Amino acid sequence: MGWWKETITIVKENDPAARTSLEVLLTYPGVKALAAHRLSHFLWTHGFKLLARMHSQFWRFWTQIEIHPGAEIAEGVFIDHGAGLVIGETAIVEKGAMLYHGVTLGGTGKDTGKRHPTVRKGALVSAHSQVIGPVEIGENAKIGAAAVVLSDVPPDVTVVGVPAKVVRIHGQKDEIQIKTIEEQREASYYSSKL
Ligand SMILES: CC(C)(COP(=O)(O)OP(=O)(O)OC[C@H]1O[C@@H](n2cnc3c(N)ncnc32)[C@H](O)[C@@H]1OP(=O)(O)O)[C@@H](O)C(=O)NCCC(=O)NCCS
Repeated sequence: MGWWKETITIVKENDPAARTSLEVLLTYPGVKALAAHRLSHFLWTHGFKLLARMHSQFWRFWTQIEIHPGAEIAEGVFIDHGAGLVIGETAIVEKGAMLYHGVTLGGTGKDTGKRHPTVRKGALVSAHSQVIGPVEIGENAKIGAAAVVLSDVPPDVTVVGVPAKVVRIHGQKDEIQIKTIEEQREASYYSSKL
């Protein structure tokens, strides 16, 4: 399937408000921002870094979505609404991930190299959640609206709150398993700070 067709199909599958392909093409800022990012990323990876930054800033003006040209974004990503969304230079977003408005995939300001998050396949990053640092959001994980995520999130769990804690595993409230996972997350967070 071509990039445009796949991108429009994903919007229609995930947003009940999307009525026709033409409507999606004309009125969804996320689709425009992702399309523009393909060119920005091409320019960035082919040595035209200033032009790439200027191109991405131009589209930031029109879409209110800021994606650094260095970010790696797979086909089949869905950005809904998008206003205020910021994706940093070394972020990776895999196929089927969903990102809403107000999300930050940002750096802590203290890391170098790979310093932005990786969002694995099918993960949901809800509105206004802030994912900070080189953390990994596992496949099909869900980040609740307005959560602040500072450490890795395992696959197939839901995290909510500030800082974000696991509240569901495979959609189930299994208190014992949740406690075990939280202890592991806490241990790996503190060991990463040593
Ligand atoms: C987190 C979310 C994805 C639901 O995931 P889920 O796995 O189905 O989780 P549940 O709805 O069963 O909620 C699990 C628990 O987290 C709580 N919770 C859910 N979302 C929360 C949030 N954003 N902040 C704090 N707590 C939240 C629920 O009250 C529930 O608490 P409980 O354990 O005391 O019962 C969803 O609630 C959410 O935040 N959606 C926002 C999507 C969005 O950005 N929409 C914007 C559209 S414009």
